[in-house]
Amino acid sequence: MKIKIYFILSSVVLLAGVLSAKFYGTSKSSRTTQSFDKAWHFKFGDIKDGQNPSLDDSNWRLLNLPHDWSIEGHFQSDTNNKDLPEIHVVNGEWKFKEGDNLHWKNPRLDDSSWQTVKLPSAWEKSSNYTKDNVYGWYRRELTIPADLKGKDIYINVGKIDDADETFFNGVKVGSMGSFPPNYTTAWDQLRYYKVPHEIIHYGEKNSIAVRVFDGIMSGGIYSDGERILDGPFDSGCPGGSGAGYLDGGIGWYRKTFKLPDDLKDKRVFVEFDGVYMNSDVWINGFHLGNRPYGYSSFQYELTKHLKFGDGKNVIAVRVDVQQPCSRWYSGAGIYRNVRLIITNPVHIAHWGTYVTTPEISEKEATVSIETNIRNQSSSSHRVTLETVLVDELGNKVGGSSSTQKVETGGISTFTQIIKIQKPGLWSVKNPILYHAESEVYVDNNLTDDSKTPFGIRSFEFTKDKGFFLNGKHVEINGVCLHHDLGPLGTAVNKRAIQRELEIMKSMGCNAIRTSHNPPAPELLELCDRMGMLVMDEAFDEWKTNKTKYGYGRFFDKWNKRDLTDMILRDRNHPSIILWSIGNEIPEQDSPKAYEMSKRLADICQKEDPTRPVTSACNTPGEAVKSGFSKPLDVLGINYNVAFYNTLKGKAKLFGSETASTVSTRGVYNLIKEGDSLKIAKELNNQCSSYDMNAPSWGNVAEASLKAVKNAPWIAGEFVWTGFDYIGEPTPFSWPSVSSYFGIVDLCGFPKDRYYLYQSQWTKKPMVHILPHWNWKGFEGMKIPVWCYSNCESVELFLNGKSLGEKKFSDTKDLHLAWEVPYSPGTLKAVARNNGKIVCTDEVQTAGSPAKIILIPDRKEINADGKDLSYVKVEVADNEGRICPNADNLIKFNVKGEGTIAGVGNGNPISHEYFKSNERKAFHGLALVIIQSTDKNGEINITANSDGLNESGVTIKTKK
Ligand code: GAL
Repeated sequence: MKIKIYFILSSVVLLAGVLSAKFYGTSKSSRTTQSFDKAWHFKFGDIKDGQNPSLDDSNWRLLNLPHDWSIEGHFQSDTNNKDLPEIHVVNGEWKFKEGDNLHWKNPRLDDSSWQTVKLPSAWEKSSNYTKDNVYGWYRRELTIPADLKGKDIYINVGKIDDADETFFNGVKVGSMGSFPPNYTTAWDQLRYYKVPHEIIHYGEKNSIAVRVFDGIMSGGIYSDGERILDGPFDSGCPGGSGAGYLDGGIGWYRKTFKLPDDLKDKRVFVEFDGVYMNSDVWINGFHLGNRPYGYSSFQYELTKHLKFGDGKNVIAVRVDVQQPCSRWYSGAGIYRNVRLIITNPVHIAHWGTYVTTPEISEKEATVSIETNIRNQSSSSHRVTLETVLVDELGNKVGGSSSTQKVETGGISTFTQIIKIQKPGLWSVKNPILYHAESEVYVDNNLTDDSKTPFGIRSFEFTKDKGFFLNGKHVEINGVCLHHDLGPLGTAVNKRAIQRELEIMKSMGCNAIRTSHNPPAPELLELCDRMGMLVMDEAFDEWKTNKTKYGYGRFFDKWNKRDLTDMILRDRNHPSIILWSIGNEIPEQDSPKAYEMSKRLADICQKEDPTRPVTSACNTPGEAVKSGFSKPLDVLGINYNVAFYNTLKGKAKLFGSETASTVSTRGVYNLIKEGDSLKIAKELNNQCSSYDMNAPSWGNVAEASLKAVKNAPWIAGEFVWTGFDYIGEPTPFSWPSVSSYFGIVDLCGFPKDRYYLYQSQWTKKPMVHILPHWNWKGFEGMKIPVWCYSNCESVELFLNGKSLGEKKFSDTKDLHLAWEVPYSPGTLKAVARNNGKIVCTDEVQTAGSPAKIILIPDRKEINADGKDLSYVKVEVADNEGRICPNADNLIKFNVKGEGTIAGVGNGNPISHEYFKSNERKAFHGLALVIIQSTDKNGEINITANSDGLNESGVTIKTKK
């Protein structure tokens, strides 16, 4: 067991734990919106009476939000707390029988006729039982030492593929995954089951019986379940590979604050953009509410529980991440922003402004603004709402004033229609924004104001020609993104999201699918500003769980609220073109399919009739047959590209999820086979970067692109995925901890596939060669060389000698290929259009690693304690050529007004800490993410490594 523990860098800069009265001032402004992110106390584990205001939390960790504890390292997960004896029961002889009979749990059963098998082993190997969707039982005897008498024990039953129920002396002691009809797999999780002393026969033989259900592929007790803690990762993490082997658990946050006396007559609200997950919030010991879904934004009113003046207020949040709860890395904690909102009693209600543009022409746009005004004062009032529409330059382009009575305790909707002449239209290329400035008056006194950004655009999905934005055809060249931000975990950071979008945009991507949950509001703001279309997705599961502690257990009670809230929060964003009610919903082919999808689609239509509703279907045929697809305006097809044809003309279609190609940046897996070379798709838990590997349900990137190209009636596609993400390391499991699906790696460094998409999605001439050109030991052997380009032809040169020109018009492939006998030097690609050279690319054989080159993406950042500079670290030879195989350990030293927010290298099997001041390079590259403090100044970063020249760079920070 490797255990390496670092102290988390003191990268948070904290304000005092108690906010002074001055903090809020006595501003005359009608509404105060104040970040509530600073100076929270955090403690991992469940705390008795953690909500109690008088609890002493002074020794809890002090930190700023957003915060994700899961990325920091393994905590004690809710398996064996190690106080109890743990007995490994897997290794050795067991009895096995195919089939299913609950009587087989009986300790006195005669199992002598059962097959004897040696575990661990998949039952396909030990018993030739090869069918899928079958049951089998294992039984063994176990002597429990007499000296444990009176003690409970843990039995470690290893990893079981897929679901189990385990009995000790006939009594059920544990179960993971679920059996049909609500089948879920838990193939990758360690089973630690507690056995109470009452059922144990100490010093004697005891019976263990394990009932196993196998879904697809292998089944049985296949691993002895040795638990490895390495870096922040925990091979026994109950979240398993899906969670990237990072633990959940329970955590508490508390914040103490004061409010000045003159706020006594105000209304005070706290707003959470998202807490993962199952949060409970208390103010001064009063329970405000529980919110299970970790991706929903929510608000609580604090007013009547608050103390003003010298009194201290304590807000406490309990977060419960019971794993497995997600198929991907979810993070854990208050991972999105929190703010305090202070208003007068008469104010615009939460998410109370709804802007639509029912009519748009070049000459004129009609803007409709519905505003909900809430009256929390003790008497009814005549309220005036003044709305002004403002363009990006600050010009007022329209306005309206309306007066109406709002009853005490009531909410009234004001509807205003305003025309804008010659409107600027929001588009992908030119995302023009407006905003509505709303002011609320009672008796001529301003009581509230707010600003709501919006855009003016029209769009349409068609059955025969795809998607149109403002009347012009736009192919959706989209990517799916999970919400983690690589080395930062899931803690939201606006600059990190912006950088992700910039990288995607540079590839020609014009759309994001927020798979498979409502995103951080910052993502939507950025998509509005940057011209990215958005498919806003609500759920990955409805009632039928995909993981044991997933959303399914909350669905019945919460689905209406969660879906409604997503739409109310997000419906003013011009970037959003689709509401998705779910991804690969297991109910697609159930008898309730129509009823359920209709109900959810109706919620979307009720809250926002201006956008189509979709769902991402992995069994589109079933979805049509069952009626699931009927209420959908547009049908999303996951993979299953044949359905682009099958359903042609029958529905508006798009590829809601495509490809799932797997590759590792910098890895080619060329291996010698006799005199020739072979590309191994997979080797040492890494996937080759030649576009050649996808799971059974997916396609390699070229095939997916071609399928979309050949079906111009569909609206386009969302590739799985833009960025690698933590968790779901298909096609592997431990020691792999992050995904291989990304077009760019976990650090945002492009894999070769990035250039394939760029060649198909952009027009500016580009050409890219793969692989690198460091093949010592392969001299004379034929290396497969591929070029991606959007030009007509590419000519390849090795050390100045032409290897021939190839044209895209001569091939059906989306790449050009050569076999080049290796000799070191320079391999150059020269791309031409109409016979003229328009761009080139080259790879050169690098010498040994000699120096470090630091390349910050931004040399000046805001001194706001949040902004980031992403510093790319290259390991290069003397001439500055990146060494494509370098894996030197780089150590960072940061001085001045900044700290290290995270490090990474894009290696899916690295177990190094993301929060650290060192990182190994991976294929020549590493990343250090620098965060500003809130003081003006300079940040000096130096990087050194044994045997390499030290390097330094300075970043300025400015208010
Ligand atoms: C899809 C699923 C995604 C991801 C992907 C991996 O079926 O919707 O969330 O798991 O497979 O290929």
